Amino acid sequence: MDIRRVCVVGGGTMGNGIAHVFAQKGYSVTLVEMKKDLAEKAVGAIGKNMDRQVAKGVLTAADKEAALKRLNTATSIAEAKGFDFAIEAVPEKLEIKSAVFKELSAYGAPGAILATNTSSISIGDIAAAAADPSRVIGMHFMNPVPVMKLVEIIRGKKTSDEVVAATRALTEKLGKVPAVANDFPGFVSNRVLLPMLNEAIECLREGVSSKEDIDTIMKLGMAHPMGPIQLADYIGLDVCLAIMEVLDKGLGGTKYRPSPLLREMVAAGKLGVKSGAGFYEYPKK
Ligand code: 3HC
Repeated sequence: MDIRRVCVVGGGTMGNGIAHVFAQKGYSVTLVEMKKDLAEKAVGAIGKNMDRQVAKGVLTAADKEAALKRLNTATSIAEAKGFDFAIEAVPEKLEIKSAVFKELSAYGAPGAILATNTSSISIGDIAAAAADPSRVIGMHFMNPVPVMKLVEIIRGKKTSDEVVAATRALTEKLGKVPAVANDFPGFVSNRVLLPMLNEAIECLREGVSSKEDIDTIMKLGMAHPMGPIQLADYIGLDVCLAIMEVLDKGLGGTKYRPSPLLREMVAAGKLGVKSGAGFYEYPKK
């Protein structure tokens, strides 16, 4: 399959990171956001993140300009008509994703692959809204997308072998490493990661230790780049709670029950880095 034109739906942290990487690697990208100012904000974030790469010598200034030229924005999927590959990174609500997949099915080139960056919703449930579920696949990037090497590829029950092979090859062309999981709640990454973060929050709630010491123990003791409390803030506490709820509902038992402290933080609007405060404070620079 010759993939050239890519449509990225959603320009939040994950969407703009995904559009960034595709544009950087030579693809023609249309980033779809609901409103023009949101699309402009996403392109602004991509420019700033590319500046970090230029400052580090990972990207030249000329490559940055060329990548930004390959990146267009739109406020509807219809404007991206004829794409070969689409990836959706809209909020983690099945009804929103279903509406996106219905539209993507109408505007892709014949045989287009439709991917979702969902962190835990079933690929089968999302694919049910598409005209051809065999063309739907999970392509789960990690945050920060331009830095993290892994792409977790999730094969839905109806995903064709050809689509899995094409998505693997595409991941490698993006300079990332693919690893494939089947369509179980939380796949592999979040089924393993989130209970650890939830347990760290339980340690804090029960007074086992302070947030700083919990983070130090896991960071220096286990060589994790970030402590679990800091990482939960970085991912977003609302996202962490939503994933725990999917695990709890899908796998049952007591293992995946969300920490009451996690629920309290989300109810109080303390969502982590993105809201300016979570377990730690993040004053605006
Ligand atoms: N775009 C481009 N470059 C970026 C970037 C971005 N958004 N964010 C960071 N960088 C670059 C920096 O420029 C720097 O480059 P260098 O190595 O060449 O100097 C490098 O990344 C490291 O960044 P910093 O120096 O600012 O800070 P750190 O060394 O502390 O690294 C981190 C930051 C990469 C975020 C590191 O702390 C880390 O790996 N943390 C864990 C991240 C993680 O676990 N992600 C997965 C979350 S789970 C997920 O996404 C799944 C979801 O479904 C929940």
